[in-house]
Amino acid sequence: MTDQPSDAAIPQQLEQLQQRLAQAQRLTALGELLSTTTHEFNNILMTVINYAKLGLRHTDNETRQKAFEKILAAAQRAARISHSILGMAKNRSGNLEPTNLVQLLEDTLLLLERELNKYRIAVEKYLQPIPPVLANGNQIQQVLLNLIINARQAMPQGGRLTVKLWHDPGSGMVHLMIRDTGCGIPPEILPRIFDPFFTTKTGPDSSGKGGTGLGLSMCKEIIQAHQGRIRVESAPGRGTAFTLMLPSAQPPAEPAPPALSPSTQEAVSSPLSTAPPAPAG
Ligand SMILES: Nc1ncnc2c1ncn2[C@@H]1O[C@H](COP(=O)(O)OP(=O)(O)OP(=O)(O)O)[C@@H](O)[C@H]1O
Ligand SMILES: [Mg+2]
Repeated sequence: MTDQPSDAAIPQQLEQLQQRLAQAQRLTALGELLSTTTHEFNNILMTVINYAKLGLRHTDNETRQKAFEKILAAAQRAARISHSILGMAKNRSGNLEPTNLVQLLEDTLLLLERELNKYRIAVEKYLQPIPPVLANGNQIQQVLLNLIINARQAMPQGGRLTVKLWHDPGSGMVHLMIRDTGCGIPPEILPRIFDPFFTTKTGPDSSGKGGTGLGLSMCKEIIQAHQGRIRVESAPGRGTAFTLMLPSAQPPAEPAPPALSPSTQEAVSSPLSTAPPAPAG
């Protein structure tokens, strides 16, 4: 006896497996967001509790003033985070709509600010003015979280995260590059990093993140569903750059030859490009 499926049953089983994979990917993304925000709120509460205790112990005006300022700053940070999460919860539809990518990026960096500080990662931002992109904000935030957490995990001894945002009016695409100065990706595994369940991590790290190998496969699926592109360039020992290209909500201007576009040049002539770029899909 064999439990091999009959030929007729295979497409149906494949469909079921794909649905289960998509469900698993949604759950990992949700788990990532939940663990990041819970961590953040816990940190903020610790700050509030410790400065309240300090203010109670020391009755001089100067210490109390400092304690109140710290408590206020921590509470305002919590308010900004919950505000951005409520904003995400509102946009639950699967629809693509004009979306402010700068805001999404800032919200995501705010959420990960503590974690990046903890691992001594400096953030550099080069954000040019861009039009709104046609996107599902929740999904794009999942992509950003994945890429930034991957970058952080590639720099266990600290490093630099560079974020660049620009618009190419010729193609109508908005480009977002996330570059790290981490371990890089060996050329032999570069073609596999977008495969579901491909991971080089042994399991969740000390922050409870990483290791399922679903992050990049989900990023690729989401970006393709947006009619966008995701590409990677990496140099082992020097770092990795992921670039997302998303259609802007404005129609493209008069077509221009790509060679004349400084932004396209920038992406292609990256100093990291010692390994051939591996476009996803
Ligand atoms: N910025 C990066 N620097 C170095 N290697 C990376 C980077 N991003 C991804 N990788 C490699 O690609 C692999 C797949 O990444 P992916 O995000 O899909 O899975 P993961 O991070 O291992 O697990 P998770 O599902 O929790 O995200 C990683 O295990 C790592 O080897
Ligand atoms: Mg990952």
